Amino acid sequence: MSRIGGVPVRELVSACGTPLVVYDVDVMKAKLQEYRDHFVSDRFKTGVVYASKAFSCKAMIRIVDSFGFLVDVVSLGEMVTALLAGIDPSRIIFHGNNKSEEEIEYALEKKIGTIVCDNLMEAMMLEEKARYIDHPVHVLLRVNPGIEAHTHKYIVTGHIDSKFGISLLDESRLVHAIMVLRENPNICFDGLHAHIGSQIFEKQAFVEEIRTLFSYMNKMKERYGITCNTLDLGGGFAARYTNEDAPIPLAEVCEAILTTAQEEEDKYQTGIERIWIEPGRSLCAEAGYNLYSIGFTKKTPNKTYLFVNGGMSDNIRPALYQAKYDAYIEGRENDAPEGTFTIAGKCCESGDILIESIDLPKAHYGDILVMKTTGAYGYAMASHYNKLPLPAVVFAESGKFRTVIRRESIEHMISLEEDEL
Ligand SMILES: Cc1ncc(COP(=O)(O)O)c(C=O)c1O
Repeated sequence: MSRIGGVPVRELVSACGTPLVVYDVDVMKAKLQEYRDHFVSDRFKTGVVYASKAFSCKAMIRIVDSFGFLVDVVSLGEMVTALLAGIDPSRIIFHGNNKSEEEIEYALEKKIGTIVCDNLMEAMMLEEKARYIDHPVHVLLRVNPGIEAHTHKYIVTGHIDSKFGISLLDESRLVHAIMVLRENPNICFDGLHAHIGSQIFEKQAFVEEIRTLFSYMNKMKERYGITCNTLDLGGGFAARYTNEDAPIPLAEVCEAILTTAQEEEDKYQTGIERIWIEPGRSLCAEAGYNLYSIGFTKKTPNKTYLFVNGGMSDNIRPALYQAKYDAYIEGRENDAPEGTFTIAGKCCESGDILIESIDLPKAHYGDILVMKTTGAYGYAMASHYNKLPLPAVVFAESGKFRTVIRRESIEHMISLEEDEL
């Protein structure tokens, strides 16, 4: 019989039903503590910014806030969620490649601490709107350093066509954007932001990112007199989804980042005082579980399907980019496998496969399938496809649990529809 956050899985299921998203808060807090212990430096002020796109809800923001982390938001919805959670607006970092006027005005009105400006048009709009505020707003410029890192690969010259940020190769536009921002005395131009990818296992990718950015800041200082005090290196730190994944220990990545930054600052004297990182997935993926009820099974010439009562509507990652997961059948975690199964959801898409191939003991109708490491970009990307209501989300901690997001009802889902008589 397995437990999550000290609570028996069966108790969670009988109290809350399935499909259910459960977070082991003890695991999450241990991760937060690890970041807090290791991302520290004598040389720089360091900050860990939680990328709330990975999983945004008030309860989550409160936990992250209680550890002293900042919070990154990318939309009005995420911003409002963070504010409703009670976080000090000055601790919010507002991202996004296509912020609306409404979002920019709202961020300025609410005194959001830092806005990460994505492009020249945004710089112009921000400069214009910031003329009417009576407080300073801190701004970073998102740049694209031309380093793309995903899983075990990083490509130093790749990805100049990214939709995010301004390429370092586009120097005139980049400098123009900074000059526009600096025209406005209400805007404090603090420095640069870059995010080079996701699920990165290769610390060298971060080292290259830092070297590239410091050398660029040095060039900006020498050529244009532009100085930066803050460098935000983005997220991308890997999580362990299956046994094939071996994320670099956090202590090692933090040390590589801070040592490289220190070496580069010694070399260039750019004036950087503050270094931020923005982990999302690595903070919450491993703490999350999706619990499903197993329904029918089906044999085809080459496969044996186990169907579950959720699927791509609550976790689109396998369908979207072939993300891999591990799972077990509650109560039979230690039983020998009796076959290889394909775990499929109930949505009307052939691609609605949660796990393509997994060895499991024989499952019965009504058994609980526990899918592991679902805590990032799972619920956050959930949809109403096939009019499946969103599952409930529960936080389990030290043997107790509480619902943090109620299960959506079908009535709630349909309630936005107008009656046409
Ligand atoms: C700007 C930015 N920061 C942070 C993150 C978080 O990345 P991860 O969840 O891989 O740590 C993302 C993810 O897309 C991002 O775009």
